[in-house]
Amino acid sequence: MSLIKNNEEYLKKVINDLGYEISNVAILPSGKRELGTFQLNVAMMLAKQYKKNPMDIAKEIVANLDSRFEGVNIAAPGFINFSFKDDNLIEYLNIVLKDFHNLVDKHEEKLIFLDYGGANAAKALHVGHMRSPNIGEAMRRLANLLGDKTISDVHLGDLGRQAGMLISEIKKREPDSLYFKEDYEGEYPAVNYTPADLGEMYVAANVDAKMNKERMDEVREITADIDRGNKRYINLWKKLVDISVVSIKDVYDKLNCHFDLWEGELDSFKDVPSMLEVLKPYLYESEGAMVMDVKENEDNKKFPPLIVIKTDGATIYATRDLATIYSREKRFKPDEIWYFTDNRQSLYFEQVFRASYKAGLVRKDCKLLHFGFGTINGKDGKPFKTRDGGVMELESLIKLIEEILEPKMKSELKNKDEIKEKLAIATLKYADLMSFRNTDYIFDLEKFASFDGKTGPYILYTTVRLKSILRKSDVKEFKITKIENAESLDIYLKLLELPSILNRCYNDKSLNYVTDFLFDLASLFNKFYNNYHILTESDDNIRNNYLGLVKLVYLVIHNLLEILAIDEVEEM
Ligand code: ARG
Repeated sequence: MSLIKNNEEYLKKVINDLGYEISNVAILPSGKRELGTFQLNVAMMLAKQYKKNPMDIAKEIVANLDSRFEGVNIAAPGFINFSFKDDNLIEYLNIVLKDFHNLVDKHEEKLIFLDYGGANAAKALHVGHMRSPNIGEAMRRLANLLGDKTISDVHLGDLGRQAGMLISEIKKREPDSLYFKEDYEGEYPAVNYTPADLGEMYVAANVDAKMNKERMDEVREITADIDRGNKRYINLWKKLVDISVVSIKDVYDKLNCHFDLWEGELDSFKDVPSMLEVLKPYLYESEGAMVMDVKENEDNKKFPPLIVIKTDGATIYATRDLATIYSREKRFKPDEIWYFTDNRQSLYFEQVFRASYKAGLVRKDCKLLHFGFGTINGKDGKPFKTRDGGVMELESLIKLIEEILEPKMKSELKNKDEIKEKLAIATLKYADLMSFRNTDYIFDLEKFASFDGKTGPYILYTTVRLKSILRKSDVKEFKITKIENAESLDIYLKLLELPSILNRCYNDKSLNYVTDFLFDLASLFNKFYNNYHILTESDDNIRNNYLGLVKLVYLVIHNLLEILAIDEVEEM
């Protein structure tokens, strides 16, 4: 348990023993450092509740404290200020040095199923596809750190128009292929396209289908045929999906995303019939489609019925999500399922969740939660595009950032390309996680790739510095025996804030508090570094305390980068 939490529990007990009922006591960083490093405003809260004078309550609490704190004082209208004793703080810092987990307050274990990534097969990943894997992966790691068990699923978009497009293009190019021979039941031939071929073929088909109605009809027909279970098409399409997954995996690997399951919409097919059985009592026909009412009395906005089966009898996105929920519930019984997609799918997910609860596809106590995110915009405030107005592919964006980074890097690096790619990914991920999940943000390449300021490269630069000091030091076991100066104290007090920052990220499903914290900590450390000579300090005790600080700061930054899924580098 963290030092703060430990003392919050203690304070809670003291206050409860005085006869006040309180469920939570928060120790907060002090607004007035000269009065102490921490403050409590619990007396003001209790004063309202118990209609008493807050100063009296504060005095009562202070009179009952043991001697663990230093400089306890009361300031109007009822703030209790105090500092931790150096010895207590130092003891705790050494415990954290032994194991970072002592700087984390775990909660009761839950099983969380995470649905993020969501790449669409046979289409290139573009900039807009970055937030879901970045946020989802970091949330998975954070949940694990805080004590949850997790299962992650990439949930590929592997059904839909793009299937019809590609198959129709192959039909045009290879009309004699066995895949187009009706009633063929034998072995299916291998398919020898590359991911790049698929991209090119998709574009070709798309252009033609837009101009040519017959072609579009064919695309629709093939798409519908897949849905009806056409074996030849499904077989061919699965092979195409496998090819495209190779390049999707490549990008997710670069982004350090780990998925326990590589399932997708196609996999939900087998669960559609049994799911529909459960949904049946709630379905009714509307304009030829099968729909389900999901509005509730207390709604203050419109909740249209959810379309479950289209007029032509085909399944849609929603059918597949309902079947997927049903299957996840049966297989895993998760406590919560988290979905990370663009904000534009918020209403959709609300409909799907309501339908699932109403029909009993999941237990009522399984929480289905959608966490939407904002759009990545260019400086013009419109969705981020390439210079000529096209969609920016993620791979091209990474290359572009590498070009900006190149001149800032040391020229004589050994694995320059590898380091450059890591820096580019760090630039992207840090920038992406830095704004609050729900808000849009402006993608400013130059700013995000800067070696100075609130950026990925700045944090990595700080780790390079920290690691270089540690490498040159001869210390075997790091131990802090004294807080040497004000800069050190600032760093240590900052560290004490981490447990509550991690909890805030977990509650909001947003990593911006961690990116802020990393920047603050790196800045505090760099200030310390500029004011003191660490390795050349001649007094052994002082040098060891400095090195203990370096080790501790590195340990914390290292673990936080691990949560954000950002790789470190040794030089840059
Ligand atoms: N493939 C979808 C898209 O591009 C995202 C999938 C999200 N997950 C889900 N279960 N619907 O919008």
